[in-house]
Amino acid sequence: MSRTKVTIPYLMEKKAKKEQITMITGYDYPMALLEEKAGIDIILCGDSLGMTVYGFDGTLPVTMDMMIVHSAAVKRGAPNAFVIGDMPFLSYQVSPQEAVRNAGRFMKEANVDCIKLEGGAAMAETVKAIVNAGIPVMGHLGLTPQSTSALGGFKAQGRSAEAACRIIEDAAALEAAGVCSILLEAIPPEVARIITESSKVPIISIGAGIHCDGQLLIVHDMLGFFDRFVPKFVKKYANMNGVILEALLQYKAEVEQGVFPGKEQCYGMPAEELGKLNDMLKR
Ligand code: KIV
Repeated sequence: MSRTKVTIPYLMEKKAKKEQITMITGYDYPMALLEEKAGIDIILCGDSLGMTVYGFDGTLPVTMDMMIVHSAAVKRGAPNAFVIGDMPFLSYQVSPQEAVRNAGRFMKEANVDCIKLEGGAAMAETVKAIVNAGIPVMGHLGLTPQSTSALGGFKAQGRSAEAACRIIEDAAALEAAGVCSILLEAIPPEVARIITESSKVPIISIGAGIHCDGQLLIVHDMLGFFDRFVPKFVKKYANMNGVILEALLQYKAEVEQGVFPGKEQCYGMPAEELGKLNDMLKR
């Protein structure tokens, strides 16, 4: 069943009407097809694919080329969702010019609706440059995975009054620079509430509590498809690891026991043709 395209005005309207925005990560075509079918509003092709798909320890090794290939596949699977391409490490930090060029690649080569980048006031000039090029930007504050080394690991942020104040100021700076939305990761709900209530753009939570305008989860986490580490904010809605492992074990056993393939998985040959073949081979 097709639906109308999710746009920035539609997301703004949801915020105004206090209707929750649904967001999830997606990295490939088959998952995007299902996310589109489920009617998810926003799909983030996140650089978390460095861990969930490629098996790296973090997001830093992810390149623009990897992100473009995956974002384009997601967009093909979910043409009506609002698809966001995540700017990988060093694709936007070096200069606003490089940031515009890389953000532009997401639009030209992957046909995404928006890009996301990490950072607050320090990124304001870069955000302005990208927005001035006509490219919508989502900001990302709190636990910003590309800076985990500087942050001392994958740790919740904004838990002291000073740290919370900095995040609130960063959100205001991003909004003034023209972002169309802000993602808050792993911060206390009270801090997220202050930002959500004072902001005109939709504020999305991943581990920032219930008061935001919408929620995001990493699809591999919520499906139980990635368990190397599971953050506190994850709720598991399925156990895909269990389901897939069971199927693989059953396949292995059936091959080893000569049960697979059965008759129903084989192509038939008319008895007459088989007889002819046997005669030909005897000659
Ligand atoms: O890459 C990603 O999926 C993200 C989430 C961790 C928010 O940026």
